[in-house]
Amino acid sequence: MPNGHKPDPCCLVIFGVTGDLTHRLVIPALYNLLAGNLLPDNFCVVGIARKGMTGEQLVESLMTGLHQFSARKIDDTLAKKLLSCVTCIEADPKDPASFDAMSKQLDRIEDERRTGGNRLFYLATPPNAFLPIARELARAGMMAENGSWRRIIIEKPFGTDLESARHLNHELLKLMDEQQIYRIDHYLGKETVQNILVLRFANGMFEPIWNRNHIDHVQITVDEKLGVGHRGSFYDSTGALRDMVPNHLFQLLSLVAMEPPARFDAHAVRSEKAEVLSSIQTQSEDEALKNSVRGQYRGGRVGDVEIEDYRKTEDVKPGSTTETYAALKLTIDNWRWAGVPFYLRTGKALGVKRTEIAIKFKQAPFAMFRDTPVDQLSQNYLVISTEPVEGIELQFNTKVPGPSIEIDGVEMKFRYKDYFKAEPSTGYETLIYDCMIGDNILFQRADSVEAGWQAVQPFLDAWKKAGAKGLKIYDAGTEGPEEADELLARDGRSWRKLA
Ligand SMILES: NC(=O)c1ccc[n+]([C@@H]2O[C@H](COP(=O)([O-])OP(=O)(O)OC[C@H]3O[C@@H](n4cnc5c(N)ncnc54)[C@H](OP(=O)(O)O)[C@@H]3O)[C@@H](O)[C@H]2O)c1
Repeated sequence: MPNGHKPDPCCLVIFGVTGDLTHRLVIPALYNLLAGNLLPDNFCVVGIARKGMTGEQLVESLMTGLHQFSARKIDDTLAKKLLSCVTCIEADPKDPASFDAMSKQLDRIEDERRTGGNRLFYLATPPNAFLPIARELARAGMMAENGSWRRIIIEKPFGTDLESARHLNHELLKLMDEQQIYRIDHYLGKETVQNILVLRFANGMFEPIWNRNHIDHVQITVDEKLGVGHRGSFYDSTGALRDMVPNHLFQLLSLVAMEPPARFDAHAVRSEKAEVLSSIQTQSEDEALKNSVRGQYRGGRVGDVEIEDYRKTEDVKPGSTTETYAALKLTIDNWRWAGVPFYLRTGKALGVKRTEIAIKFKQAPFAMFRDTPVDQLSQNYLVISTEPVEGIELQFNTKVPGPSIEIDGVEMKFRYKDYFKAEPSTGYETLIYDCMIGDNILFQRADSVEAGWQAVQPFLDAWKKAGAKGLKIYDAGTEGPEEADELLARDGRSWRKLA
């Protein structure tokens, strides 16, 4: 949750207000902001639905969603206060007249609510609606800033490959300024993710060793226990790589690998993030095949839950070659990281739910222990974890008590919840709040998005050509395909064991 001043008056206009994202995350986040006294005094929410829905029906549906999805106990008075700001307008980007009418209705609502013409348009819709909506907003004059501000939040996925991401950026930038565009990645709303910058740059002890001289390699893991469930149609045309890597995993990678920004401001931080992403070495398709593993799950048990075979999932093609697991080896072609591999893995229907960055340090020289009973030193890791617990862990060697020299690896653990009393949050609070105050430090700039797609494009191309060849099968509830272990084993390394 942010802690700060109340934003200026504004109106939040949500496209896709009937959808899952609005109910599950956006409205609960607004509730949490209101509970923290962080919504503007003059504020309204206007939901845009494509077909007939009254304001009362929308409020009822959002209230049900709030009770269903909020991790906090809902105070009905506060919930009613929030939902009293909500109205509903019918408009469809296919019908320009409906956008002209919407523009007039928004002017009227804003007069009543005294929100001063400041508008935040949230595109909580499928990606194929992003451009049609943006075009209509611009055509109807709603993106013009005449003494007030106009901003637009674009959900992920931002493009499906390098070409489509470039096209989307190009078209959006014909309609509005980069400063008006907030490309959201909810990973950046997580405290631990934001804390990576603080850990690195607000402590004197980490940055001097944060380079190729001391770090052996970096592992970034985003493993999920859930299968594809009812999202078969979306997932089968997307796959693990597109769904997770250019956005979430690259956000983590860029924060870990970026150079120190000159200032803690949006321009400086986003420039360093874009720079490091553009330094990821672009691989040939042959290299991409050698440096990657893609897998697909078969049925199995994950804990108490029976997961059905991916290919038998509703709306998944029976012979699908879409990957539900991806592991990549990347290198960053700059002075700091030369020769330090970054191993990334993500998958569904795995035995453990875990999101972490593990930084493996080079081993200390063994020489002084040669004539002792010690036969090996365990590995030094610094682990930044966001799921299932938010925290930081340091693994180091220590002497086992007793008369002889014996060494064992131990862990020092910091957990957010032990130190800070924070109410549960959705991760969207900070992001929505930042949009309202015009701080885009946590949002992706056009060049970062394109640099991310540039780095994954060879993998997409190589996998598409390979088809079924090279697709590895793993059972649900396992750690993924065995070949992912070989990806590291051939470099004399191994994945960190996940608890
Ligand atoms: N759900 C999540 O947890 C989550 C998390 C992260 C990101 N996202 C992203 O958020 C976006 C929305 O996801 P969702 O899960 O909320 O999807 P959803 O449940 O299918 O809802 C989509 C919403 O968009 C509207 N819509 C569909 N096509 C439209 C069009 N052509 N023009 C205008 N409105 C249209 C639908 O309105 P109608 O009622 O008019 O059909 C519906 O309200 C997606 O881009 C998704 O990738 C979702």
